[in-house]
Amino acid sequence: MTTVTDHSPSPAAQPFTGDSRSIYRLVLDVRRGEIPAHASAPAIAHRTLAGLLDERSRRLLPSAADSVFAREPLSAGHGRPTVPFLPKARLLGPEEQRTAVECFARALAAGELTSGPAVTEFEQALAEFLGLPHAVATSSGTDALIIALRAVGVGPDDEVIMPANSFAATENAVFACGAVPVLVDVDPERHTLEPALVEAAITPRTRAVLPVHLYGRLADAAGVHRVAREHGLRVVEDACQAIGVTGVGQYSDATVLSFNPYKNFGLTGKAGAVLTSDGELHACMESLAYHGFAPGEKNVKADVWGLNAKIDNSTATVAMGLLPGLTLNNYRRAFLAHRYIDALADLGAVRQLSLPAFTDDHAWHLFPVRATAGEAARDRLRAHLHSAGVETDIYYPVLTHHQRTPLREKLFAGVSLPCTEELNTTVFHLPLHNGLSVTEQDRVIEAVRDAVHTTVC
Ligand SMILES: Cc1ncc(COP(=O)(O)O)c(C=O)c1O
Repeated sequence: MTTVTDHSPSPAAQPFTGDSRSIYRLVLDVRRGEIPAHASAPAIAHRTLAGLLDERSRRLLPSAADSVFAREPLSAGHGRPTVPFLPKARLLGPEEQRTAVECFARALAAGELTSGPAVTEFEQALAEFLGLPHAVATSSGTDALIIALRAVGVGPDDEVIMPANSFAATENAVFACGAVPVLVDVDPERHTLEPALVEAAITPRTRAVLPVHLYGRLADAAGVHRVAREHGLRVVEDACQAIGVTGVGQYSDATVLSFNPYKNFGLTGKAGAVLTSDGELHACMESLAYHGFAPGEKNVKADVWGLNAKIDNSTATVAMGLLPGLTLNNYRRAFLAHRYIDALADLGAVRQLSLPAFTDDHAWHLFPVRATAGEAARDRLRAHLHSAGVETDIYYPVLTHHQRTPLREKLFAGVSLPCTEELNTTVFHLPLHNGLSVTEQDRVIEAVRDAVHTTVC
Protein backbone atom coordinates (compact mmCIF):
# COMPACT_ATOMS: atom_id res chain seq x y z
CA MET A 1 0.00 0.00 0.00
CA THR A 2 1.25 3.53 -0.77
CA THR A 3 2.87 4.97 2.35
CA VAL A 4 3.88 8.62 2.27
CA THR A 5 4.36 11.52 4.63
CA ASP A 6 1.10 12.98 5.90
CA HIS A 7 0.25 16.41 4.52
CA SER A 8 -3.47 16.23 5.27
CA PRO A 9 -5.08 19.32 6.84
CA SER A 10 -5.55 17.90 10.33
CA PRO A 11 -2.41 18.28 12.47
CA ALA A 12 -3.48 15.29 14.55
CA ALA A 13 -3.82 13.04 11.50
CA GLN A 14 -1.83 9.83 11.34
CA PRO A 15 0.31 8.78 8.37
CA PHE A 16 -1.64 8.25 5.17
CA THR A 17 -1.37 4.58 4.26
CA GLY A 18 -4.04 4.43 1.55
CA ASP A 19 -6.26 1.88 3.29
CA SER A 20 -9.90 2.58 4.16
CA ARG A 21 -9.12 3.90 7.63
CA SER A 22 -6.69 6.53 6.40
CA ILE A 23 -8.98 7.45 3.49
CA TYR A 24 -11.84 7.86 6.00
CA ARG A 25 -9.75 10.29 8.07
CA LEU A 26 -8.74 12.22 4.99
CA VAL A 27 -12.32 12.54 3.76
CA LEU A 28 -13.47 13.84 7.15
CA ASP A 29 -10.58 16.33 7.27
CA VAL A 30 -11.32 17.63 3.79
CA ARG A 31 -15.07 17.79 4.39
CA ARG A 32 -14.75 19.47 7.81
CA GLY A 33 -14.89 23.26 7.95
CA GLU A 34 -11.27 23.48 6.79
CA ILE A 35 -12.43 24.14 3.27
CA PRO A 36 -11.96 27.85 2.46
CA ALA A 37 -15.10 29.58 1.25
CA HIS A 38 -13.60 30.40 -2.13
CA ALA A 39 -12.60 26.84 -2.95
CA SER A 40 -14.77 23.91 -3.87
CA ALA A 41 -14.45 20.74 -1.84
CA PRO A 42 -13.34 18.66 -4.84
CA ALA A 43 -10.54 21.12 -5.63
CA ILE A 44 -9.30 20.96 -2.03
CA ALA A 45 -9.58 17.20 -2.16
CA HIS A 46 -7.44 17.21 -5.26
CA ARG A 47 -4.68 19.34 -3.77
CA THR A 48 -4.68 17.37 -0.55
CA LEU A 49 -4.52 14.05 -2.30
CA ALA A 50 -1.85 15.22 -4.72
CA GLY A 51 0.33 15.94 -1.67
CA LEU A 52 -0.25 12.49 -0.23
CA LEU A 53 0.11 10.18 -3.16
CA ASP A 54 3.45 8.86 -4.28
CA GLU A 55 4.87 9.78 -7.66
CA ARG A 56 3.45 6.80 -9.56
CA SER A 57 -0.03 7.35 -8.16
CA ARG A 58 0.07 11.08 -8.91
CA ARG A 59 0.55 10.27 -12.56
CA LEU A 60 -2.97 8.85 -12.61
CA LEU A 61 -4.50 12.05 -11.24
CA PRO A 62 -6.33 13.99 -13.95
CA SER A 63 -3.66 16.15 -15.58
CA ALA A 64 -5.52 19.19 -16.87
CA ALA A 65 -8.52 19.36 -14.53
CA ASP A 66 -8.41 21.01 -11.14
CA SER A 67 -10.60 18.35 -9.61
CA VAL A 68 -9.92 14.82 -8.53
CA PHE A 69 -13.41 13.96 -9.74
CA ALA A 70 -14.60 13.26 -13.26
CA ARG A 71 -15.93 16.22 -15.23
CA GLU A 72 -18.54 14.24 -17.07
CA PRO A 73 -21.44 16.51 -18.01
CA LEU A 74 -24.98 15.28 -17.57
CA SER A 75 -25.94 13.25 -20.62
CA ALA A 76 -29.09 14.50 -22.26
CA GLY A 77 -31.96 12.98 -24.19
CA HIS A 78 -32.05 10.10 -26.71
CA GLY A 79 -33.73 7.91 -24.12
CA ARG A 80 -30.55 7.81 -22.04
CA PRO A 81 -30.66 8.46 -18.30
CA THR A 82 -29.19 11.80 -17.22
CA VAL A 83 -27.18 9.91 -14.65
CA PRO A 84 -26.47 6.29 -15.65
CA PHE A 85 -25.89 3.82 -12.84
CA LEU A 86 -22.56 2.58 -14.18
CA PRO A 87 -21.64 3.85 -17.65
CA LYS A 88 -19.53 1.24 -19.43
CA ALA A 89 -17.56 3.76 -21.47
CA ARG A 90 -16.29 5.28 -18.21
CA LEU A 91 -15.24 2.15 -16.32
CA LEU A 92 -11.69 3.42 -16.72
CA GLY A 93 -10.99 7.16 -16.77
CA PRO A 94 -9.07 8.83 -19.66
CA GLU A 95 -5.66 8.57 -17.92
CA GLU A 96 -6.34 4.97 -16.98
CA GLN A 97 -7.36 4.09 -20.54
CA ARG A 98 -4.11 5.56 -21.87
CA THR A 99 -2.10 3.63 -19.28
CA ALA A 100 -3.95 0.39 -20.07
CA VAL A 101 -3.31 0.74 -23.81
CA GLU A 102 0.40 1.42 -23.25
CA CYS A 103 0.75 -1.54 -20.91
CA PHE A 104 -1.11 -3.95 -23.18
CA ALA A 105 0.95 -2.81 -26.18
CA ARG A 106 4.13 -3.64 -24.22
CA ALA A 107 2.94 -7.17 -23.42
CA LEU A 108 1.79 -7.66 -27.01
CA ALA A 109 5.11 -6.53 -28.49
CA ALA A 110 7.02 -8.86 -26.17
CA GLY A 111 4.66 -11.72 -27.02
CA GLU A 112 4.18 -12.29 -23.29
CA LEU A 113 0.44 -12.68 -23.32
CA THR A 114 -0.30 -15.63 -21.06
CA SER A 115 2.72 -16.24 -18.82
CA GLY A 116 5.37 -13.63 -18.20
CA PRO A 117 7.13 -11.52 -15.57
CA ALA A 118 4.22 -9.19 -14.78
CA VAL A 119 2.30 -12.05 -13.13
CA THR A 120 4.83 -12.42 -10.32
CA GLU A 121 5.34 -8.66 -10.09
CA PHE A 122 1.61 -8.14 -9.67
CA GLU A 123 1.35 -10.92 -7.10
CA GLN A 124 4.14 -9.33 -5.09
CA ALA A 125 2.54 -5.89 -5.33
CA LEU A 126 -0.80 -7.27 -4.18
CA ALA A 127 0.79 -9.11 -1.28
CA GLU A 128 2.50 -5.90 -0.20
CA PHE A 129 -0.73 -3.91 -0.62
CA LEU A 130 -2.65 -6.27 1.67
CA GLY A 131 0.26 -6.86 4.05
CA LEU A 132 0.18 -10.62 3.45
CA PRO A 133 3.13 -12.76 2.32
CA HIS A 134 1.56 -14.72 -0.55
CA ALA A 135 -0.72 -14.01 -3.52
CA VAL A 136 -1.88 -16.05 -6.49
CA ALA A 137 -3.30 -13.88 -9.27
CA THR A 138 -6.09 -15.65 -11.13
CA SER A 139 -8.33 -15.41 -14.17
CA SER A 140 -11.31 -14.30 -12.04
CA GLY A 141 -12.55 -13.84 -8.51
CA THR A 142 -14.79 -16.87 -9.04
CA ASP A 143 -11.80 -19.09 -9.87
CA ALA A 144 -9.94 -17.67 -6.88
CA LEU A 145 -12.88 -18.62 -4.62
CA ILE A 146 -12.91 -22.20 -5.97
CA ILE A 147 -9.15 -22.48 -5.53
CA ALA A 148 -9.28 -21.10 -1.98
CA LEU A 149 -12.10 -23.39 -0.89
CA ARG A 150 -10.43 -26.46 -2.40
CA ALA A 151 -7.11 -25.52 -0.84
CA VAL A 152 -8.56 -25.27 2.68
CA GLY A 153 -10.01 -28.75 2.20
CA VAL A 154 -13.62 -28.16 1.16
CA GLY A 155 -14.83 -31.23 -0.75
CA PRO A 156 -17.91 -33.26 -1.62
CA ASP A 157 -20.77 -33.09 0.91
CA ASP A 158 -18.97 -30.68 3.23
CA GLU A 159 -20.97 -27.71 4.46
CA VAL A 160 -19.82 -24.12 4.02
CA ILE A 161 -21.56 -21.42 6.05
CA MET A 162 -22.24 -18.26 4.04
CA PRO A 163 -24.77 -15.47 3.52
CA ALA A 164 -27.63 -15.65 0.96
CA ASN A 165 -27.17 -12.08 -0.29
CA SER A 166 -24.13 -12.25 -2.53
CA PHE A 167 -23.22 -12.54 -6.19
CA ALA A 168 -23.87 -16.06 -7.56
CA ALA A 169 -20.09 -16.66 -7.71
CA THR A 170 -19.96 -17.12 -3.93
CA GLU A 171 -22.42 -20.02 -3.81
CA ASN A 172 -21.23 -21.37 -7.17
CA ALA A 173 -17.70 -21.76 -5.83
CA VAL A 174 -19.09 -23.90 -3.00
CA PHE A 175 -21.09 -26.02 -5.48
CA ALA A 176 -18.03 -26.36 -7.71
CA CYS A 177 -16.28 -28.12 -4.80
CA GLY A 178 -19.22 -30.53 -4.45
CA ALA A 179 -20.06 -28.91 -1.12
CA VAL A 180 -23.32 -27.47 0.21
CA PRO A 181 -23.96 -23.84 1.16
CA VAL A 182 -25.51 -23.43 4.60
CA LEU A 183 -27.18 -20.04 4.67
CA VAL A 184 -27.06 -17.83 7.73
CA ASP A 185 -28.75 -14.48 8.42
CA VAL A 186 -26.93 -11.15 8.42
CA ASP A 187 -26.42 -8.15 10.65
CA PRO A 188 -29.00 -5.52 9.57
CA GLU A 189 -26.52 -2.65 9.50
CA ARG A 190 -23.57 -4.32 7.83
CA HIS A 191 -25.60 -6.69 5.61
CA THR A 192 -22.95 -9.32 6.43
CA LEU A 193 -22.71 -12.59 8.39
CA GLU A 194 -23.70 -12.48 12.05
CA PRO A 195 -21.06 -14.49 14.01
CA ALA A 196 -23.51 -15.77 16.67
CA LEU A 197 -25.71 -17.23 13.93
CA VAL A 198 -22.67 -18.76 12.25
CA GLU A 199 -21.94 -20.60 15.48
CA ALA A 200 -25.53 -21.83 15.74
CA ALA A 201 -25.36 -23.28 12.21
CA ILE A 202 -22.26 -25.43 12.74
CA THR A 203 -22.73 -29.18 12.31
CA PRO A 204 -20.26 -32.09 12.15
CA ARG A 205 -20.19 -31.60 8.35
CA THR A 206 -19.18 -27.92 8.49
CA ARG A 207 -15.74 -27.39 6.95
CA ALA A 208 -15.47 -23.64 6.36
CA VAL A 209 -17.07 -20.23 6.78
CA LEU A 210 -17.30 -17.85 3.83
CA PRO A 211 -18.08 -14.27 4.90
CA VAL A 212 -18.72 -11.71 2.14
CA HIS A 213 -17.76 -8.06 2.60
CA LEU A 214 -20.91 -6.96 0.82
CA TYR A 215 -20.97 -3.62 -1.01
CA GLY A 216 -17.41 -3.04 0.26
CA ARG A 217 -18.19 -3.04 4.00
CA LEU A 218 -16.07 -5.33 6.15
CA ALA A 219 -18.05 -8.18 7.72
CA ASP A 220 -17.44 -8.82 11.41
CA ALA A 221 -14.34 -10.69 10.30
CA ALA A 222 -12.82 -10.89 13.78
CA GLY A 223 -16.07 -12.33 15.18
CA VAL A 224 -16.36 -14.92 12.41
CA HIS A 225 -12.70 -15.85 12.83
CA ARG A 226 -13.13 -16.36 16.59
CA VAL A 227 -16.09 -18.70 16.10
CA ALA A 228 -14.28 -20.60 13.34
CA ARG A 229 -11.16 -21.10 15.43
CA GLU A 230 -13.17 -22.36 18.41
CA HIS A 231 -14.74 -25.01 16.18
CA GLY A 232 -11.69 -25.92 14.10
CA LEU A 233 -13.12 -24.44 10.87
CA ARG A 234 -11.34 -22.65 8.03
CA VAL A 235 -12.28 -19.15 6.87
CA VAL A 236 -12.21 -17.92 3.28
CA GLU A 237 -13.06 -14.22 2.93
CA ASP A 238 -14.93 -13.09 -0.15
CA ALA A 239 -13.38 -9.63 -0.39
CA CYS A 240 -14.20 -9.26 -4.09
CA GLN A 241 -15.92 -5.92 -3.35
CA ALA A 242 -13.61 -4.76 -0.58
CA ILE A 243 -10.08 -4.19 -1.85
CA GLY A 244 -8.36 -1.54 0.25
CA VAL A 245 -10.43 -2.04 3.40
CA THR A 246 -8.41 -2.02 6.60
CA GLY A 247 -8.48 -5.50 8.14
CA VAL A 248 -9.16 -7.46 4.93
CA GLY A 249 -6.96 -10.55 5.02
CA GLN A 250 -6.21 -10.36 8.73
CA TYR A 251 -8.89 -12.79 9.96
CA SER A 252 -8.95 -15.66 7.51
CA ASP A 253 -7.01 -18.50 5.94
CA ALA A 254 -7.49 -17.10 2.44
CA THR A 255 -8.75 -13.79 1.04
CA VAL A 256 -10.28 -13.52 -2.41
CA LEU A 257 -10.34 -10.40 -4.61
CA SER A 258 -11.93 -9.59 -7.96
CA PHE A 259 -10.60 -7.17 -10.55
CA ASN A 260 -13.37 -7.47 -13.11
CA PRO A 261 -13.93 -4.12 -14.83
CA TYR A 262 -16.87 -3.17 -12.57
CA LYS A 263 -14.86 -3.35 -9.36
CA ASN A 264 -13.05 -0.55 -7.45
CA PHE A 265 -9.84 -1.87 -8.96
CA GLY A 266 -11.20 -2.91 -12.34
CA LEU A 267 -8.98 -4.13 -15.17
CA THR A 268 -9.50 -4.63 -18.90
CA GLY A 269 -11.07 -8.06 -18.48
CA LYS A 270 -11.84 -10.68 -15.88
CA ALA A 271 -9.21 -11.24 -13.20
CA GLY A 272 -8.89 -11.94 -9.49
CA ALA A 273 -6.53 -13.14 -6.78
CA VAL A 274 -6.31 -15.15 -3.61
CA LEU A 275 -3.99 -14.18 -0.77
CA THR A 276 -2.83 -16.05 2.30
CA SER A 277 -0.27 -15.93 5.07
CA ASP A 278 0.10 -19.72 5.03
CA GLY A 279 3.01 -20.98 2.89
CA GLU A 280 1.57 -24.49 2.47
CA LEU A 281 -1.81 -23.16 1.39
CA HIS A 282 -0.02 -20.91 -1.07
CA ALA A 283 1.81 -23.81 -2.71
CA CYS A 284 -1.43 -25.76 -2.92
CA MET A 285 -3.28 -22.80 -4.46
CA GLU A 286 -0.51 -22.23 -7.04
CA SER A 287 -0.80 -25.81 -8.14
CA LEU A 288 -4.64 -25.74 -8.20
CA ALA A 289 -4.50 -22.57 -10.29
CA TYR A 290 -2.34 -24.15 -12.99
CA HIS A 291 -2.94 -27.78 -13.95
CA GLY A 292 -1.54 -29.23 -10.73
CA PHE A 293 1.97 -28.32 -11.84
CA ALA A 294 4.71 -28.14 -9.24
CA PRO A 295 5.56 -24.48 -8.55
CA GLY A 296 8.29 -23.24 -10.90
CA GLU A 297 8.39 -26.47 -12.92
CA LYS A 298 7.27 -26.69 -16.52
CA ASN A 299 4.77 -29.45 -17.32
CA VAL A 300 5.67 -31.44 -14.21
CA LYS A 301 2.67 -32.31 -12.11
CA ALA A 302 2.70 -32.41 -8.33
CA ASP A 303 -1.06 -32.77 -7.92
CA VAL A 304 -3.71 -34.93 -9.57
CA TRP A 305 -5.32 -31.99 -11.35
CA GLY A 306 -5.60 -28.23 -11.44
CA LEU A 307 -7.49 -25.50 -13.27
CA ASN A 308 -6.19 -23.27 -16.03
CA ALA A 309 -6.88 -20.20 -13.93
CA LYS A 310 -3.79 -18.02 -13.68
CA ILE A 311 -4.10 -14.37 -14.67
CA ASP A 312 -2.76 -13.54 -18.16
CA ASN A 313 0.55 -11.69 -18.27
CA SER A 314 -1.08 -9.05 -20.50
CA THR A 315 -3.75 -8.40 -17.84
CA ALA A 316 -1.13 -8.40 -15.08
CA THR A 317 0.88 -5.81 -17.04
CA VAL A 318 -2.20 -3.58 -17.19
CA ALA A 319 -2.80 -4.26 -13.49
CA MET A 320 0.71 -3.04 -12.60
CA GLY A 321 0.02 0.15 -14.56
CA LEU A 322 -3.32 0.78 -12.86
CA LEU A 323 -2.56 -0.34 -9.30
CA PRO A 324 -1.13 3.04 -8.23
CA GLY A 325 -4.55 4.57 -8.99
CA LEU A 326 -6.45 2.31 -6.60
CA THR A 327 -6.03 4.62 -3.59
CA LEU A 328 -7.22 7.58 -5.65
CA ASN A 329 -10.31 5.68 -6.79
CA ASN A 330 -11.13 4.46 -3.29
CA TYR A 331 -10.75 8.04 -2.08
CA ARG A 332 -13.13 9.27 -4.79
CA ARG A 333 -15.74 6.72 -3.74
CA ALA A 334 -15.42 7.48 -0.01
CA PHE A 335 -15.62 11.21 -0.64
CA LEU A 336 -18.75 10.83 -2.77
CA ALA A 337 -20.31 8.44 -0.22
CA HIS A 338 -19.78 11.02 2.52
CA ARG A 339 -21.30 13.68 0.28
CA TYR A 340 -24.42 11.52 -0.29
CA ILE A 341 -24.78 10.83 3.43
CA ASP A 342 -24.38 14.52 4.31
CA ALA A 343 -26.86 15.71 1.71
CA LEU A 344 -29.52 13.07 2.38
CA ALA A 345 -29.17 12.59 6.15
CA ASP A 346 -32.35 14.48 7.05
CA LEU A 347 -34.46 12.15 4.89
CA GLY A 348 -33.90 9.44 7.50
CA ALA A 349 -35.62 11.69 10.03
CA VAL A 350 -38.87 11.48 8.06
CA ARG A 351 -38.42 7.70 8.26
CA GLN A 352 -38.42 7.03 4.56
CA LEU A 353 -34.82 6.49 3.58
CA SER A 354 -32.21 4.76 5.66
CA LEU A 355 -28.63 5.53 4.63
CA PRO A 356 -25.43 3.64 5.40
CA ALA A 357 -23.20 5.05 8.15
CA PHE A 358 -19.93 6.62 7.04
CA THR A 359 -17.44 4.19 8.57
CA ASP A 360 -13.73 3.51 8.23
CA ASP A 361 -14.15 -0.14 7.22
CA HIS A 362 -15.71 0.45 3.83
CA ALA A 363 -14.48 0.52 0.21
CA TRP A 364 -17.81 1.99 -0.99
CA HIS A 365 -18.05 -0.42 -3.89
CA LEU A 366 -21.79 0.31 -3.86
CA PHE A 367 -24.00 2.85 -2.11
CA PRO A 368 -27.02 1.01 -0.67
CA VAL A 369 -30.08 2.88 0.61
CA ARG A 370 -33.15 1.34 2.22
CA ALA A 371 -36.77 2.38 1.73
CA THR A 372 -37.94 1.84 5.29
CA ALA A 373 -41.65 1.78 4.33
CA GLY A 374 -41.17 -1.45 2.39
CA GLU A 375 -40.96 -2.94 -1.09
CA ALA A 376 -43.80 -0.93 -2.67
CA ALA A 377 -42.24 2.28 -1.38
CA ARG A 378 -38.89 1.23 -2.83
CA ASP A 379 -40.46 0.60 -6.22
CA ARG A 380 -42.19 3.99 -6.18
CA LEU A 381 -38.95 5.77 -5.24
CA ARG A 382 -37.05 3.99 -8.01
CA ALA A 383 -39.75 4.77 -10.56
CA HIS A 384 -39.67 8.42 -9.57
CA LEU A 385 -35.88 8.54 -9.86
CA HIS A 386 -36.07 6.79 -13.22
CA SER A 387 -38.47 9.40 -14.56
CA ALA A 388 -36.06 12.09 -13.31
CA GLY A 389 -33.30 10.46 -15.40
CA VAL A 390 -31.47 8.82 -12.49
CA GLU A 391 -30.74 5.15 -12.97
CA THR A 392 -30.67 2.99 -9.83
CA ASP A 393 -30.10 -0.72 -9.39
CA ILE A 394 -30.79 -3.62 -7.06
CA TYR A 395 -27.75 -5.81 -6.63
CA TYR A 396 -28.64 -9.46 -6.27
CA PRO A 397 -32.45 -9.23 -6.49
CA VAL A 398 -32.81 -13.01 -5.94
CA LEU A 399 -31.36 -14.49 -2.76
CA THR A 400 -29.52 -17.83 -2.92
CA HIS A 401 -32.40 -19.80 -1.36
CA HIS A 402 -34.93 -18.20 -3.70
CA GLN A 403 -33.15 -18.95 -6.99
CA ARG A 404 -35.27 -21.33 -9.08
CA THR A 405 -32.69 -24.08 -9.57
CA PRO A 406 -33.13 -27.87 -9.52
CA LEU A 407 -31.59 -28.23 -6.06
CA ARG A 408 -33.61 -25.48 -4.42
CA GLU A 409 -36.23 -27.69 -2.73
CA LYS A 410 -33.67 -30.24 -1.58
CA LEU A 411 -31.24 -27.73 -0.12
CA PHE A 412 -33.20 -24.69 0.93
CA ALA A 413 -36.83 -25.67 1.65
CA GLY A 414 -37.66 -24.20 5.03
CA VAL A 415 -34.70 -21.79 5.09
CA SER A 416 -35.84 -18.55 6.69
CA LEU A 417 -33.51 -15.53 6.98
CA PRO A 418 -35.72 -12.69 8.24
CA CYS A 419 -33.14 -9.92 8.17
CA THR A 420 -31.62 -10.86 4.79
CA GLU A 421 -35.09 -11.17 3.30
CA GLU A 422 -36.25 -7.82 4.68
CA LEU A 423 -33.15 -6.07 3.32
CA ASN A 424 -33.66 -7.80 -0.01
CA THR A 425 -37.09 -6.20 -0.46
CA THR A 426 -36.16 -2.69 0.70
CA VAL A 427 -32.57 -1.94 -0.41
CA PHE A 428 -31.61 -0.33 -3.71
CA HIS A 429 -28.43 1.34 -4.93
CA LEU A 430 -27.66 4.87 -6.03
CA PRO A 431 -24.97 5.56 -8.65
CA LEU A 432 -21.46 5.46 -7.14
CA HIS A 433 -18.44 4.63 -9.27
CA ASN A 434 -14.89 5.87 -9.82
CA GLY A 435 -15.99 8.16 -12.65
CA LEU A 436 -19.12 9.70 -11.08
CA SER A 437 -18.86 13.48 -11.35
CA VAL A 438 -19.93 15.87 -8.63
CA THR A 439 -22.42 17.41 -11.10
CA GLU A 440 -23.99 14.01 -11.65
CA GLN A 441 -24.09 13.37 -7.94
CA ASP A 442 -25.81 16.70 -7.31
CA ARG A 443 -28.49 15.68 -9.81
CA VAL A 444 -28.97 12.36 -7.99
CA ILE A 445 -29.24 14.13 -4.64
CA GLU A 446 -31.79 16.58 -5.99
CA ALA A 447 -33.83 13.77 -7.55
CA VAL A 448 -33.76 11.64 -4.37
CA ARG A 449 -34.93 14.58 -2.24
CA ASP A 450 -37.69 15.27 -4.70
CA ALA A 451 -38.68 11.60 -4.90
CA VAL A 452 -38.92 11.25 -1.12
CA HIS A 453 -40.97 14.41 -0.75
CA THR A 454 -43.38 13.68 -3.58
CA THR A 455 -43.73 9.92 -3.25
CA VAL A 456 -46.39 8.68 -0.89
CA CYS A 457 -44.52 6.02 0.98
C1 LIG B 1 -19.15 -10.66 -3.79
C2 LIG B 1 -18.55 -11.21 -5.05
N1 LIG B 1 -18.04 -12.44 -5.03
C3 LIG B 1 -17.46 -12.98 -6.11
C4 LIG B 1 -17.36 -12.27 -7.30
C5 LIG B 1 -16.75 -12.94 -8.49
O1 LIG B 1 -15.70 -12.23 -9.03
P1 LIG B 1 -15.40 -12.37 -10.63
O2 LIG B 1 -16.45 -11.60 -11.34
O3 LIG B 1 -14.04 -11.75 -10.75
O4 LIG B 1 -15.40 -13.80 -10.96
C6 LIG B 1 -17.85 -10.98 -7.35
C7 LIG B 1 -17.74 -10.14 -8.56
O5 LIG B 1 -18.46 -10.13 -9.48
C8 LIG B 1 -18.49 -10.43 -6.21
O6 LIG B 1 -19.00 -9.20 -6.23
